[in-house]
Amino acid sequence: MVANRLPVDRVVLDDGSTDWRTSPGGLVSAIAPVMRKNRGAWVGWHGSADEELEPFVDDDLQLVPVPLSATEVQEYYEGFSNGTLWPLYHDVVEFPEYHREWWDAYVKINKRFASRAADVTQHNGTVWVQDYQLQLVPQMLREMRPDLTIGFFLHIPFPPVELFQQLPWRRQVLSGLLGADLVGFQLPGGAQNFVRLVRQRVGLRTHRDRIVHADDRQTLARAYPIAIDASGFQELAERPETLERAAEIRRDLENPRTVFLGVDRLDYTKGLKQRIRAFGELFASGELDPDDAVFVQVANPSRERVDQYRRLRDDIDRLVGRINGDLGRIGRSAIVYLHNSYPHEEMAALYKAADVMVVTPLRDGMNLVAKEYVACRSDNTGALVLSEFAGAAKELRQSFQVNPYDINGMKDTFLAAYSADRTDRARRMRAMRRQVFEHDIDHWAESYLADLRDIRSRNR
Ligand code: F6P
Repeated sequence: MVANRLPVDRVVLDDGSTDWRTSPGGLVSAIAPVMRKNRGAWVGWHGSADEELEPFVDDDLQLVPVPLSATEVQEYYEGFSNGTLWPLYHDVVEFPEYHREWWDAYVKINKRFASRAADVTQHNGTVWVQDYQLQLVPQMLREMRPDLTIGFFLHIPFPPVELFQQLPWRRQVLSGLLGADLVGFQLPGGAQNFVRLVRQRVGLRTHRDRIVHADDRQTLARAYPIAIDASGFQELAERPETLERAAEIRRDLENPRTVFLGVDRLDYTKGLKQRIRAFGELFASGELDPDDAVFVQVANPSRERVDQYRRLRDDIDRLVGRINGDLGRIGRSAIVYLHNSYPHEEMAALYKAADVMVVTPLRDGMNLVAKEYVACRSDNTGALVLSEFAGAAKELRQSFQVNPYDINGMKDTFLAAYSADRTDRARRMRAMRRQVFEHDIDHWAESYLADLRDIRSRNR
């Protein structure tokens, strides 16, 4: 496995000592269980700059750290990955910046990841490359190690042709991905965008989801919506200590009739401002009463040195402060805002404590929080409000779906979810749970790896 991040992140504490914590984001939580079963090595960055570490074993996983200097973090990770590709691939909800030195760093670091993977993979082995930070690795690896089976999976949306064309290095990125035997996407639309671009920009022959190279090798482009370890989450949610913690959370919130919950990385794609504004208006108009309902928003700190993320944090702080200042009373806030990350155990308790989960991104590859909430609701209670612009909306069709750009529409849907009766909620939840349990992370990995084996045996 090759991913920008290792599953654990090295952090420097206030007193200057270092510690490890689980890396942020959906990629790591989805991939870690797959790796535990397949017993491979995981090549990735350990999250701190200017530090070289030897390979090590953590929680049964073999980890192979890739070092990055402070300048490389700035140019490859914060720059090209998160200042160029991230906004470009998410519908340009923020303006992508194009800098040639960021691109140069991206090429250099992709080569470093490819070399590290080439060093540690056995003859005829399989390498699975993850996500937008490493799109050049498949081609680089193929040149270094033609014996390998190479897969790639993109965790974020693959943009429409009209947007992707903006990228000055569009052809190089497409060629990088084409080094893989199988390129996986979250949704069929992403796979179709990719095939169309390959035909137009690289000039290769395509037939449905197959791309034919000049030497007759084929690359397959297909959708594999990523999933979660559903039974693992359910088991966690049913533990007596989780149930006790969930009850304690509700008590600490003064036992409101309805707890709304949002859980996101603090990212401008997540639609946090629109969501908070919608709640602010509902509380201000009296349609929601702070004595009766509370909105808890957990925002996991993310990419804090990137300007757009810094500005977002300030905006959210101000917005929440204003709403609570206007509407709160001593001992009770309308919005409880937690800028922090929590372990899975605490997340499961929060999911158990929440009556309505609100997941309203402006654009999201999949969104695993929505699936985690569903997995934890084994008694079929609770309601999920879900953005049409999250990949998960295609599977969780019985959620209360919203257009996050439409604040009035969102307010109506929050109220509809709030006042839905038990039978309606249970009917929706049962159907969503069937989907989440039948299409879990094992199903995802097995179907991807089976197709990877098939295309590789055809290519040999
Ligand atoms: O799932 C998308 C993703 O960008 C992953 O690639 C990434 O590891 C995660 O979100 C969290 O972001 P970051 O690694 O930049 O903290």
